[in-house]
Amino acid sequence: VQLDPTAVTGMIKHVAPHRPCCSNSSKHSSNRWTFNKTLSSFIRKNILRFLDPERDISILKGMLKPGDIIHYLFDRHSTTNISENLYRLLPTASPMKNQHHRKCAIVGNSGILLNSSCGPEIDSHDFVIRCNLAPVEEYSQDVGWRTNLVTMNPSVVQRAFQDLVTEEWKERFLQRLRNLSGSVLWIPAFMAKRGEDRVEWVLRLILLHTVDVRMAFPSLRLLHAVRGYWLTNNVHIKRPTTGLLMYTMATRFCEEIHLYGFWPFPLDPKGKTVKYHYYDTLKYEYTSSSSPHTMPLEFRTLSSLHRQGALRLHTGTCD
Ligand code: CTP
Repeated sequence: VQLDPTAVTGMIKHVAPHRPCCSNSSKHSSNRWTFNKTLSSFIRKNILRFLDPERDISILKGMLKPGDIIHYLFDRHSTTNISENLYRLLPTASPMKNQHHRKCAIVGNSGILLNSSCGPEIDSHDFVIRCNLAPVEEYSQDVGWRTNLVTMNPSVVQRAFQDLVTEEWKERFLQRLRNLSGSVLWIPAFMAKRGEDRVEWVLRLILLHTVDVRMAFPSLRLLHAVRGYWLTNNVHIKRPTTGLLMYTMATRFCEEIHLYGFWPFPLDPKGKTVKYHYYDTLKYEYTSSSSPHTMPLEFRTLSSLHRQGALRLHTGTCD
């Protein structure tokens, strides 16, 4: 079916760029939301005109061989070679092949999740996506523990696992992966040059130990395509965050999409402080103008889609 992209712009109503974050309109009250199946299907079809998440979620073995040169997406003048280890771990078929789920949860990492008691509700979804290997055990009451797909930006290896410098950090990292049994581990390995070594250390560990994860390395065209889709809808995003990438991809596999832990603001609607991440001490300066992300704009976009019933954004408590 050929769809006119201008029609999409009409369907996803214009997103006001300067709406204050914490007005009452941003409180997503549970009793008023109803799923808009028509809009959700329309968005799915339009995203498919830009990318096919089933295909673009990962490069496959048949597409590359060890030694092949790849240009980094954000450092176009820098290249890397496909290592033997990466080649060995490339999937032979899409890790999301033929997957369709009725209700999916995408769990962002905002501190808004703390004291939310949303864990059991999140775990009740048919498919749960998490970002950047965020810890779950100690926070399961608020964030749940089930994971079907988890992302890992290479920077996480440094930020959360001290670049695996000691045996203890390696063991912690392996333990995190062991708890994922059967999940997809999605590593954007070719985005920026700095992550090269970190990815290689991780792959070496995975190959040396028995870890039951299914690897996925997104294709380079994924990010271009995701940006292209949102630009066509007047959402001018410099570099989509992991959360927005996951939502865009999930439209392919999920009927109803529920987002938790998306709140890129230092205060909640009642004026209470909100941590940037629920699990660490990273600060909000991180989302300043120097950051490649445009999280508040993304949030307004997601809020607009919530109001129209295309997705459900949970920002309150779940009791
Ligand atoms: N997120 C949010 N509000 C926050 C923190 C995170 O809405 N205060 C959402 C964003 O969509 C983000 C996702 O949760 O992409 C996962 O959080 P994080 O691990 O911080 O992801 P990124 O910022 O995309 O990762 P990075 O900093 O490595 O680029």
